[in-house]
Amino acid sequence: MKTADDLKRAAGFAAVDRYVRTGMCIGLGTGSTAHWAIVRTGERVAAGEQIAAVATSGVTERLCRELGIPLVLFGDREIDVAIDGADEVAADFSLTKGGGGALFREKAVAIAAGTFVVIVTPEKLVDRLGAFPTPVEVVPYSLPYVRRRIAATFGVEPAVRGGAASPFVTDNGNPILDCAFGPLSDPAARDAELRAIHGVVATGLFWGLTDAVIVADPEGVRELAR
Ligand code: 5RP
Repeated sequence: MKTADDLKRAAGFAAVDRYVRTGMCIGLGTGSTAHWAIVRTGERVAAGEQIAAVATSGVTERLCRELGIPLVLFGDREIDVAIDGADEVAADFSLTKGGGGALFREKAVAIAAGTFVVIVTPEKLVDRLGAFPTPVEVVPYSLPYVRRRIAATFGVEPAVRGGAASPFVTDNGNPILDCAFGPLSDPAARDAELRAIHGVVATGLFWGLTDAVIVADPEGVRELAR
């Protein structure tokens, strides 16, 4: 009987083995599934392959250092392939991300990468995004303003991640508003509407970025066709 962690490991290992070649610079995501892509990259570096990485969070950076994976600053090299998990994957390959709070850097790396590969277990596959609350990263000064604008515009009360008394803070020093919109018919439009609110840094809605989705379930590892 395979555990949830076995499946995440299978997805992470498959992505690295299918998409990463020696000589590449890769983007490494954040979270419990991306963890296994980092571990597999570390094994291949230890075996002598020349693979450099851009990390999408402090957690990922620390694991890369522990495993001896050479790190590159974002923007210093072209990123050939980025590999990351997701909180939701829709049929059109749009995503909700940011459950781990790394959405800004994850999106930066996904945009910059030549190929963006998403690794998930089957419960992440959805018809429409939106059951998972959309994370919205906000400049601290603007938090009350953005919260009110989102409530007034979309009729949902955003939750400050971690609670208003001691908010969770991203690697960029910003709080996150989790917005329970429900099913989103047009994630790209919602992303644009949110980013038009002054003070929004980034949203966890990723659209038009995903090139491949690798799913690990108890029957094996498969790659989704769009
Ligand atoms: C972090 C993310 C993660 O990729 C997402 O939350 C999925 O994490 P996990 O693989 O642990 O379920 O977007 O910001």
